Amino acid sequence: MDKIRIHGPCRLEGRVRASGAKNAVLPEMAATLLVDGPVTLRNVPVVRDVQTMVKVLGHLGRRQVTFEGDVLRLEGGAAGEPEAPYDLVRTMRASILVLGPLLARLGRARVSLPGGCAIGARPIDYHIDALRRMGATIAIEHGDVVATASRLKGAEIVFAERTVTGTENLMMAAVLAEGRTILKNCALEPEVADLARFLNACGARIEAEGTGRIVIDGVDRLRGTEHRVIPDRIETATFLIAAAATRGGITVERCDPTHLETVLDKLQECGVVLRVDGDTIRLEPNGPLRGVNITTRPYPDFPTDLQAQFMALMTRADGVSIVTETVFENRFLHVGELRRMGGRIVVDGQTAIVAGPAPLSGAPVMASDLRASACLIVAGLSAEGETVINRAYHIDRGYERVEIKFQALGARIERVGG
Ligand code: EPZ
Repeated sequence: MDKIRIHGPCRLEGRVRASGAKNAVLPEMAATLLVDGPVTLRNVPVVRDVQTMVKVLGHLGRRQVTFEGDVLRLEGGAAGEPEAPYDLVRTMRASILVLGPLLARLGRARVSLPGGCAIGARPIDYHIDALRRMGATIAIEHGDVVATASRLKGAEIVFAERTVTGTENLMMAAVLAEGRTILKNCALEPEVADLARFLNACGARIEAEGTGRIVIDGVDRLRGTEHRVIPDRIETATFLIAAAATRGGITVERCDPTHLETVLDKLQECGVVLRVDGDTIRLEPNGPLRGVNITTRPYPDFPTDLQAQFMALMTRADGVSIVTETVFENRFLHVGELRRMGGRIVVDGQTAIVAGPAPLSGAPVMASDLRASACLIVAGLSAEGETVINRAYHIDRGYERVEIKFQALGARIERVGG
């Protein structure tokens, strides 16, 4: 069943609950390789990337992992061969997040080098250079990153560019290292901060100053703990953007509005009305949508993981919008599909110019990656007629029960056979 069929247009109405953040729980699961003792993670999204990470941990000899509802229980420590094989890593790049913990805990690791992906080359040179600065010996052999270190040593590391998983890998490598590590020009994403919170709850000594500088004093061991994963800000905003595109009124519950300030500002600039109340965001239409410009950059700027969904919204807005992608070099694959639905979009390098409002019509389209498939759902919900999204399996990597949640908001959306 890897197609999603949508009958549009609809007007989304009602309440939906945000799931836990995929990009927070994945590094936290990898971090349990550092921990002696049982770990319980709550508010874990039931998405395919989480299931893949469970397999990766299983392969690394993780003794026991149980997943009930949104609670993941993991018994402590890495036991088996510190190898993350190609077959698992090729399905999920985030598997590279086991490199730092394995090296720190076992002094050796063999992790398949993630290849390129639809949205860009995505090298891991910053991870490797930084681990070498901590004393690791690293070689690329037969497509694998092969790393050894007697005990990692604290070091001062300046990332050439803010990198989310790079910051996370080095934070995890440094918590059991000898001495102090100072990371500079780090990623500021809320998921990085949540990983630091989790590790500190296990007994780590991490000080994140919120300025892109993180200080870590190594300790000898980490103990088990319980941790509640933060809400998924990308899923939350995907629902809000879909509601705005369908001129509907929804409330997203159990989310964290403070992680979405830039995005909420842009939505208000479009002309919708937003009401934030604790862990809920209410969105309501307010007249015609206005075109706005966005430029993706690392947090707290506009997230690249919402660029595609926001572009679908801009096809419905009055006027011209300029969408500039600065994080990944190949993240406009959804443009061709939006054009198939009637979107008026011109691409020039890393900039897309969207002219609206364009009456979208339903069509068979092809998803190329996780966020592009979310973009096509947003477009399909506001298009006239039937949209069939092929390769919809991409969406299951990062959205929990997506069609069920949209059905609860009144959408005519379903899964259909391959
Ligand atoms: C994380 O990827 C997220 N994945 C991505 O979400 C997200 O798009 C990205 O951060 C940016 O916000 C997870 O957290 C699992 P980066 P990551 O390292 O860490 C370059 C989704 O849809 N770079 O911050 O891989 C890189 O090519 C996914 O959920 C190097 O050149 O991204 C990019 O241009 C997609 N060398 C830039 O830095 C390196 O060693 C930022 O990438 C590392 C990164």
